[in-house]
Amino acid sequence: MGNVHPLEVPGGRPRRVPRYREIARRFARAIEDGILATGERLPSMRQLREDEGVSISTVSRALAELEELGLVSARPKSGYYVRPRIRLPTPEPVRPRTVAGATAVSVSELVARVYRDAQDPRIVHLGYASPATSLLPTLALARTMSAVARRDPVASVAQEMPPGLLELRSAISRRALGWGCLLPAEDLVITSGATEAVYLSLLAVANRGDTVAIETPAHYGTLQAIESLGLKALEIPCDSDTGMDLDELERRLDQHPASAVVSVPNFSNPLGSCMPDSSKERLVRRLAARGVPLVEDDVYGDLAFAGARPRPAKAYDADGNVLYCGSFSKTLVPGYRVGFAAPGRFRDRFELLKFAMNESTPTITQRTLAQFLRGGGYDRHLRWLRARLETNVARISAAIGEGFPDGTRISRPRGGCFIWVELPGGVDALDLHARALDAGVSIAPGHIFSPSQAHRNCIRLNCGEPWSEQIEAAVRLVGRLASRLRPPGDTIPTRTRLT
Ligand SMILES: Cc1ncc(COP(=O)(O)O)c(C=O)c1O
Repeated sequence: MGNVHPLEVPGGRPRRVPRYREIARRFARAIEDGILATGERLPSMRQLREDEGVSISTVSRALAELEELGLVSARPKSGYYVRPRIRLPTPEPVRPRTVAGATAVSVSELVARVYRDAQDPRIVHLGYASPATSLLPTLALARTMSAVARRDPVASVAQEMPPGLLELRSAISRRALGWGCLLPAEDLVITSGATEAVYLSLLAVANRGDTVAIETPAHYGTLQAIESLGLKALEIPCDSDTGMDLDELERRLDQHPASAVVSVPNFSNPLGSCMPDSSKERLVRRLAARGVPLVEDDVYGDLAFAGARPRPAKAYDADGNVLYCGSFSKTLVPGYRVGFAAPGRFRDRFELLKFAMNESTPTITQRTLAQFLRGGGYDRHLRWLRARLETNVARISAAIGEGFPDGTRISRPRGGCFIWVELPGGVDALDLHARALDAGVSIAPGHIFSPSQAHRNCIRLNCGEPWSEQIEAAVRLVGRLASRLRPPGDTIPTRTRLT
């Protein structure tokens, strides 16, 4: 699998699913299903070339991909063999202890400390939640930006007042059609990242002292917004596969009236869960019936590893009750700070708040993105990026399976760029964070994902760095440190043991 971004190669246009990948996926499935057993030899390269009717280089790319996934290994002068299956920890739902009521939020200092301490450039970053810049089409973006500025230097320096550049809003509107959402350009407001979109959404619907229901664990940025707006958070437990527990949400809302619910239905941060469409529909309908707005944060929706992009909950919004927030930060360009919102019936208030907050979002980045989307570069990039992230998640999962203490559980995300790791009881994630940092590796401790610090024995690991021996060594090092931190005599049920 090449490391060079396809948009950085003149004329590089990968097919929808390249042939080598199709072959690799089929063999990966055969290994998963036990059709090819551990130790079994794969057909020779020559045989594969004949069977598949492809070139030898396509065959060797397919085999390299299977090797990268840790499914086969090459034996010199002999061929490729199925590796022993690594049994991964059972991905049981990560259930936090029950949190009684709405809590005041105070995580900002801890978040700032955790990330400030990890500033050293020599640190291996497993603590972030974004694709590395080396996985982004930096040259193509630079070329687009300079072409845009040269073509219309005056418009590029003028301010683009809210709701933001029409061309960009129209391009987003067209993309949304493909996710089952009718979002006319006039319903959209461009923001400075999803951070601002979520912040303004909360500002539009809640007053100081109000309660907001959130996922637990939740993205710490949401917690920081809640904290700075003087709101209280009501934590709703989540399943690591399907997201927010909607029965529990309804029960809690009956007891604690809330002004809004914030959710990341697609590949949530940090769990990586993806809510089924039927649950999204139920969530939207029930909240509309209660008159409680839903702030939907969909920054990872474009990062599905396989199949169609999951629909947002907004696709089911018939009442304008969903304030949809999106961004290009996690998929294309974090530094441009371009996000957007479709705030439904709160649109006018949202636009006023955007203007009051900082007048506008920078023009040149909006123009560059509009041009980039028009040229088809985004879709080509996304196809490549998703494949890289899928491989990284598989490799990091395998490294955790091999190197973490017995009793470790991990999420199995089907999109996004991180893994949530639940460590055996007794391991304190902040302690682990400090020790890992001393050894040159950053991780995100579970403490920063909950106002009640309900996830003290959990960490989030970033899968957005290109796979390398250094990353593998870093994951194994965190595993060794976690094993050492585990208190003596801490036993676990056999069904969760790694074998
Ligand atoms: C769920 C979620 N929402 C929003 C953001 C921030 O997005 P942006 O960089 O566009 O402000 C992040 C960043 O990590 C995130 O994980």
